[in-house]
Amino acid sequence: AQYTFGMVGLGTMGRNLLLNMADNGFAVTGYDKSEKMLQIFEEEGKKHNLKGFSEIEDFVQSLQTPRTIILLVPAGAIVDSVILELQPLLDEGDIIIDSGNSHFTDTSRRAIELKEKGIHFFGMGISGGEEGARFGPSMMPGGDKKAYSVVKKMLEAVSAKVNDEPCVTYIGPGASGHFVKMTHNGIEYAIMQLLAETYEILKNGLDYDNNQIQAVFEKWNNGRLKSFLMEITKDVFLFKDVKTGNLLVDEIKDEAKSKGTGKWTSQVAMDIETPIPTIDAAVSSRNLSKLKKLRVELAEAFPAAEKINATKDFINDLEEAFYFAMASAYAQGMHLLWQASIQYEYELNLAEIAKIWRGGCIIRAEFLEDIYQAYKKQPELQHLYEDTSIQKKINQSLKGTRNVVCSAIQAGLAIPAYAASLTYFDTLKTSRMPSNLTQAQRDFFGAHTFERIDSEGIFHADWNKQNL
Ligand code: 6PG
Repeated sequence: AQYTFGMVGLGTMGRNLLLNMADNGFAVTGYDKSEKMLQIFEEEGKKHNLKGFSEIEDFVQSLQTPRTIILLVPAGAIVDSVILELQPLLDEGDIIIDSGNSHFTDTSRRAIELKEKGIHFFGMGISGGEEGARFGPSMMPGGDKKAYSVVKKMLEAVSAKVNDEPCVTYIGPGASGHFVKMTHNGIEYAIMQLLAETYEILKNGLDYDNNQIQAVFEKWNNGRLKSFLMEITKDVFLFKDVKTGNLLVDEIKDEAKSKGTGKWTSQVAMDIETPIPTIDAAVSSRNLSKLKKLRVELAEAFPAAEKINATKDFINDLEEAFYFAMASAYAQGMHLLWQASIQYEYELNLAEIAKIWRGGCIIRAEFLEDIYQAYKKQPELQHLYEDTSIQKKINQSLKGTRNVVCSAIQAGLAIPAYAASLTYFDTLKTSRMPSNLTQAQRDFFGAHTFERIDSEGIFHADWNKQNL
């Protein structure tokens, strides 16, 4: 046996991660049924003389024990079928690392099934796309802590670095790695939606052309809003279509697709009763975008949005609104992790998670440094809004945020993620919500009972008895 690490699936992500590992001096090989994929892999890995296998038995045989096999195949049934193929060929103590975007409940199931056979199953989220895999992603591995020591050095070597520190850490037991990656993607959806709504405000609210929009994002990307998503978004506005010579962004259909991770985040958050309304709004917006025909029909029936009556400092206010909403989105994601950690006993270290998100991943941003510092200072923090330095910045951005949200809504522009971010915040800082009325209603029509402020216990009133 000559190889230390093996990869199943030599598509772009798998191939790039292997090349990255080879660059870092690890002896690696790969397995793919497709001869074409093997050819591309060996061609791109010429420098390191990389060789792959098209027979799974030969591939497994070529690995040093305990074997470490990374899967980078499409999430879902394919992961199960690959495990089924591998299982009879493996020995106790071998490690399988599923690095796709698998649903965390699938990962829990697979980990339990494989544990019976003495095989360690890791669910590891990888973020950063093709470039990340090739030159340094952010990685979120969860599973057996002892088994982690086998792969720790390699993962640290290939990961992105921020201030020389690797963007990978042991996340926690069970499916925690995939849970954290799913939440990362939920935040990714939210930030992308906020950028899209900002574009909507600039374009349709203020009549900015693509060059002007690019300039706004470019300026922001030089300040506290600096992030990977801001950076690529500003570049989108300059990119010319090779076919027509026009700006490509204007030629793309307004129907957004998705592969499911954002939806899962919202579904799970509902299951564990943790509000993440900005992420929900982002998921719903993708679904609204798909209703193109209906939207076109209704656009005829109702008045169009008007221009925003912009105040002098409107662009500054918009920067503050983006800051505020972005903070809200990250805070919701972190709160979901906090709750999930209790619910599923993941023992998450939120400071470490914020730390490894500062580089390599799609949601990497200047703001993650603030989040990291907040949780480092107070590891038990339930909510990011409890951190005093975040509070100060939020307080400073409130006036601008309210101006932007009110102006856009007044004009009839759709800004669901901005609005959700603000009402989420306004609700969280309400010490007495109107939910006493909800309880009264539930008890009125269904005898669902209520609790009282002045005494302990469960109460029911005969609401129909008083003739009002
Ligand atoms: C990442 C990305 C990656 C993928 C998204 C796309 O972290 O590198 O999140 O995992 O690009 O899952 O998701 P949608 O297709 O659902 O937009």
